[in-house]
Amino acid sequence: MKTNKPVLLSGISPSGNLTIGNYIGALKNWVEMQEKYDCLFIVVDMHAITVRQEPGLLRSRCLSFIAQYLACGIDPEKSTLFVQSHVNAHTELAWILGCYTYMGELNRMTQFKDKSKKHPTNINAGLYVYPLLMAADILLYQTDIVPIGDDQKQHLEITRDIAVRFNNLHGKVFKIPEPCFPKIGARIMSLLEPAHKMDKSDTNSNNYVALLDEPSIITNKIKTAVTDSGTQIKTSETKPGISNLIAIYSVLSGITPKEVENNYIGKNYMTFKKDLAEMIVEKLRPLQNEYKKLMKNKDYIYEILKKGAQEATRRAEETLKKVYEKVGFILPA
Ligand code: TYM
Repeated sequence: MKTNKPVLLSGISPSGNLTIGNYIGALKNWVEMQEKYDCLFIVVDMHAITVRQEPGLLRSRCLSFIAQYLACGIDPEKSTLFVQSHVNAHTELAWILGCYTYMGELNRMTQFKDKSKKHPTNINAGLYVYPLLMAADILLYQTDIVPIGDDQKQHLEITRDIAVRFNNLHGKVFKIPEPCFPKIGARIMSLLEPAHKMDKSDTNSNNYVALLDEPSIITNKIKTAVTDSGTQIKTSETKPGISNLIAIYSVLSGITPKEVENNYIGKNYMTFKKDLAEMIVEKLRPLQNEYKKLMKNKDYIYEILKKGAQEATRRAEETLKKVYEKVGFILPA
């Protein structure tokens, strides 16, 4: 499936339910960028186990994520979809990249600090070297562009730093990838704690809307979402709750935040929330219907994964071979 189009790659960790944060920050843009780019989309299961997962649930979630990618509009005829653990080159390159990364750089990673705080009894080495695996995901495919939310910015920066360092030592092996953030919604916030990002692994599911939430659940979650003191539907730094809801409304409905504000002049929070909930329900309905259909035909999904892994392996091996040569390994006869 290699074309002359620039390469786009992105992934999501199956560590919880896919949320509208993931949709707005990543998935929605993946779908829109599919025509212009040679795309690879991954379910990064190896990243997920840096936090304890229930094995059966992780397995079913991986499959469910692929079905949700498809239901959102990812076309397997145009893009390569695969599961990270199906392509050995990711962990192989991650090891090598680790030998070109300083501990000081990894020590600066805010996600490591945040996750260590959240899981104080499981601060494992995998969590610490997580950015190396993400760098390998990206660099293996000579990626030009990586559509991500704001929270992954630092990981993209370290990826670039490692790639530049390696290239400076060994000649041009890796393409230096550029991040791509959505203009609105690069950081969708938690519904009940709008100072924190919406997180699919949140233990309180009322903090997020999942792509597969039932309409009544969505309505309830939006109803209980924290709004700020005052009555105006207006974006403001001092009103993170309502600003977040306006951003969600804007991205999902395709109108600007200003237009949202204008439409709700003189109306109250309750009316706005009711409309927002209805809009999310309607936006997710076709996706949910498609998902249900896809999950009835798991063989089709396995077939996509098989093809995806073959294609990804072929491409990844090309880069890995170059890397092995550059670092001085004897290539197998
Ligand atoms: P993950 O699984 O946490 O999130 C997947 C994608 O969703 C975006 N995102 C958000 N965007 C806006 N608002 C939010 N509240 C929000 N929450 C999540 C993330 O920025 C991300 O784009 N390490 C990555 C997965 C990964 C990856 C990669 C991404 C592994 N390898 C290679 C790109 C390229 C992660 O844990 O994302």
